[in-house]
Amino acid sequence: MKLKDRVAVITGAGAGIGRATALAFAQAGARVVVADINLEGARETAASIEREGGCALALETDVAQPESVERLVRETLSAFSQVNVLLNNAAIQVNKTVEDTTFEEWNRQLAVNLGGVFLCSKYFIPHLRRTRGVIVNMSSVNGFFVEPFCAGYCATKAGIIGLTKAMAIDHGKDGIRVNCICPGYIDAGLAEGYFQAQPDPAAARAAAGKLHALGRIGRPEEVARTAVFLASDDASFMTGSVVVVDGGFGSGLPPS
Ligand SMILES: NC(=O)c1ccc[n+]([C@@H]2O[C@H](COP(=O)([O-])OP(=O)(O)OC[C@H]3O[C@@H](n4cnc5c(N)ncnc54)[C@H](O)[C@@H]3O)[C@@H](O)[C@H]2O)c1
Repeated sequence: MKLKDRVAVITGAGAGIGRATALAFAQAGARVVVADINLEGARETAASIEREGGCALALETDVAQPESVERLVRETLSAFSQVNVLLNNAAIQVNKTVEDTTFEEWNRQLAVNLGGVFLCSKYFIPHLRRTRGVIVNMSSVNGFFVEPFCAGYCATKAGIIGLTKAMAIDHGKDGIRVNCICPGYIDAGLAEGYFQAQPDPAAARAAAGKLHALGRIGRPEEVARTAVFLASDDASFMTGSVVVVDGGFGSGLPPS
């Protein structure tokens, strides 16, 4: 039980990679706060954890809103008295070029994807300092390998890599470790939205698999296991690291 007695807050845990990670954290012994703007999704994740005998609390949270994040902190502490792990996973993806992206879409994507990492870290760091806790940020291979029609998304994921390294430097002295994960294509909501935005979604999905050396896209559980590792003491000398979980993205065959 690598995360026994730890309290972990996971944003965007009402679906996809966040949900798989919440389940993996609970299986590793953590009590999990399932934070999502979609309360129904968060409750489903919490119910799955409880069915397996774990402990979870679903909280409706918009990571782009300071008041909502402050409430998340208050309710986490009121339920569990401490926090050991913050996993900043919530994100949205606007599948457009800069020219086609509206100012409102740009601002919202920036506020959720990068602003959410800032706000949750800002309000949880004072409490993570007490437990010498851990932050894991969900970036993407799109932080350094860009693709067409998701310019703003790529910019936010590159920003998360920079923010991760900066927070690692600032808070190492507090014993807080900060790392990020860069997944390749994973069979979850944002990849599915990207495929659906292409003229032929099935062909786009097949082509995406071929971009990976392993010839397929990944599963949420394959990212979740890395998150458990980074949150655990097994990663005790890792901070400021960019951990790539991408099945060899960019080493695979070019799309046909
Ligand atoms: N799926 C992929 O191929 C892939 C690849 C690389 C990185 N990632 C990253 O993994 C993370 C999860 O992606 P996913 O594909 O599982 O997405 P998903 O759409 O399946 O899940 C994202 C969750 O975030 C929630 N959310 C959205 N806006 C929010 C907000 N303002 N506040 C709180 N919650 C909010 C959604 O309700 C949803 O439950 C993201 O950070 C994404 O950038 C995904």
